[in-house]
Amino acid sequence: MLPIQVAIDGPAGAGKSTVAKLVAKQLGAKYIDTGAMYRAVGWLVLNEHIDPSDEERIVHLAESLRFSLTDSGIQVNGYHLTNEIRMEKVSAIASAIATLGGVREVLVDKQRQLAGEQSVVMDGRDVGTHVLPNANIKIFLTASIDKRVERRYHELKKKGESPSLESLRKEVIRRDHNDKNRQFAPLCRAADAILLDTTEMTTKQVVNQIIQLCRTKLGGEE
Ligand code: DC
Repeated sequence: MLPIQVAIDGPAGAGKSTVAKLVAKQLGAKYIDTGAMYRAVGWLVLNEHIDPSDEERIVHLAESLRFSLTDSGIQVNGYHLTNEIRMEKVSAIASAIATLGGVREVLVDKQRQLAGEQSVVMDGRDVGTHVLPNANIKIFLTASIDKRVERRYHELKKKGESPSLESLRKEVIRRDHNDKNRQFAPLCRAADAILLDTTEMTTKQVVNQIIQLCRTKLGGEE
């Protein structure tokens, strides 16, 4: 079978990573979490006390990182970054550095290299529009703001953080604003992406629908 590329984009909290991981497993494809790459850079910027507006230094830092794919996710310079990059303070800084054109250029290049010639499911904000414009299937996942805040709240609680719903809501709105209004590759639905509103859907329903779409599309391409 020829390698297939599935691009899943959408705003924070739409359920992209949960869904993308399961779709990849069912298709026997690699899962690439592009958000984790922006988070890894953000985490390092925080830890190394780099000024988040110092684009030159951050571009340099991003260039120096080696990302690799493993069965349990993405590794940075051989290390697994897991809970530490999911914290709210990292989300905020990742969102800020993702507006820097030079940083995006470096990470997009690394994302394309990781995808290579194999079958992949890649999720992010600009995968269908920019990173993999020729992906076989493009999905734009969304959900109501209330649902997205609720999902994020439960996700953080599971990780031991105790955010207030009010502050989370403000944070999600701020990140939506950054994602949609940045100058370079802003979040928007690709013209050929299928829109899926997951507000009233279970994870299983969303995954089944995407798998079905892949079968129909690939069947038609044979
Ligand atoms: O999907 P996420 O919340 O883990 O992404 C972290 C941040 O990175 C988020 O603020 C948006 C940004 N991002 C991006 O600009 N482009 C991508 N392809 C993926 C994430």
